[in-house]
Amino acid sequence: MQLVFATHNAHKLNEVQTMLPKQIRLLSLDAIGCHDEIPETGNTLEENAKIKALHVAKTYSYPCFADDTGLLVNALNGAPGVFSARYAGNHKDTEANIRKLLFELGSKKDRSARFETVITLALQGEMHVFKGVVSGTIIQEKRGTGGFGYDPVFVPDGYDKTFAELSPQVKNTISHRARATEKLVHFLSALNPS
Ligand code: IMP
Repeated sequence: MQLVFATHNAHKLNEVQTMLPKQIRLLSLDAIGCHDEIPETGNTLEENAKIKALHVAKTYSYPCFADDTGLLVNALNGAPGVFSARYAGNHKDTEANIRKLLFELGSKKDRSARFETVITLALQGEMHVFKGVVSGTIIQEKRGTGGFGYDPVFVPDGYDKTFAELSPQVKNTISHRARATEKLVHFLSALNPS
């Protein structure tokens, strides 16, 4: 079975491919010749992921899954949430996003937050949804050089290091994305036992 992962990121795709039974072959957007700007006009992570998966499934006639991730901060009523990539503007500047986040949080006591990943799978006319969450705390200043995005200011519950200080192995075991991906893999593996 060929299945499109709605991403241009070969690294992300390979990571999921290694977790799947070998009769499922993942194709990137580039591999199917899809260079469309798919508008992320949804109000939630789930809506955006659905828009992407449905666009590919309908336009290119492949089963497809898509993901969308956000950081939800409780004291900011769930911001930046669906706007995580462009919190400080359309230029998607990670440093500016972090600066804005720390500014908005100021000296608020409640610094609890969570990363959420939603994966939507458009398969045989049905949409399946898989969610992964990791809870943690936003610290006052950046620590660590690994990871990407908001990793330097996010300490997952049960750890005293930020995602940018933890090894990729640890992050990739406990992360929102890993948890959502595990659920997808479990679902697909049950459909395609090896
Ligand atoms: P995407 O849906 O994977 O493109 O993620 C949207 C935005 O959320 C990214 O641009 C990052 O700012 C943030 N983000 C997603 N995943 C992570 C992560 O694992 N660590 C830190 N930030 C992340």
